[in-house]
Amino acid sequence: MSGRTHPTLIIGLTGGIGSGKSTVADALVTRGAALVDTDQIAHALTAPGGTAIEPIRQAFGDAVIAPDGRMDRAAMRERAFSDPQARKLLEGVLHPLIRAGTDAGIAAALQNAAPYVLVAIPLLVEGGGARGRFDRVLVVDCPTEVQVERVMRRSGLARSQVDAIMAAQATREQRLAVADDVVDNGGSADALPAQVERIDALYRRLSTQR
Ligand SMILES: Nc1ncnc2c1ncn2[C@@H]1O[C@H](COP(=O)(O)OP(=O)(O)OP(=O)(O)O)[C@@H](O)[C@H]1O
Ligand SMILES: [Mg+2]
Repeated sequence: MSGRTHPTLIIGLTGGIGSGKSTVADALVTRGAALVDTDQIAHALTAPGGTAIEPIRQAFGDAVIAPDGRMDRAAMRERAFSDPQARKLLEGVLHPLIRAGTDAGIAAALQNAAPYVLVAIPLLVEGGGARGRFDRVLVVDCPTEVQVERVMRRSGLARSQVDAIMAAQATREQRLAVADDVVDNGGSADALPAQVERIDALYRRLSTQR
């Protein structure tokens, strides 16, 4: 996934939980961007018949596979939360498969002559290595308090649960420090179209200049 060797601009898209990544990605896709969503890839890998299911069964046993054949997320979360070794093992199975799926998605986008490719990675900053893998990093930024409100409204999680998730993520400042481009999604949805238009125009221009 070394963006520099591609004829098309490859953008890493990230942001904290509930910051508006999917909203911004959808708006850019409407303008013609290609999107490779690593969350979707991870879900497909752990769905019934997914490529990760048998390796996960081998590593953890039937207890983490639901009756319908998907990974039992709750059971797996319990294992991985209490046991760092288990988490490492799961990541060892999933990460290479997610990376391969991402590369395949990028290749498909290039086949389709997309003007640029967005790779949505919620934990881009936490995973490190953003610099080498992408031509640019686009961060969807949002004040922490607004993030908490939106996530609580959407998911029905308690404030303490949202706080716990956010405590395990990079801070707003850490994300902004690696950003080349920022969409400010702290305001109303009305503030997005103009920013999306500007970002889309920038990426199209940079892509043709390569
Ligand atoms: N500017 C906005 N004003 C109000 N609500 C918004 C705004 N932007 C996004 N939302 C809402 O906030 C929620 C989170 O947005 P979205 O799903 O785009 O974020 P995300 O970063 O993709 O979240 P996740 O980390 O869960 O994938 C959604 O319910 C969305 O409709
Ligand atoms: Mg999302």
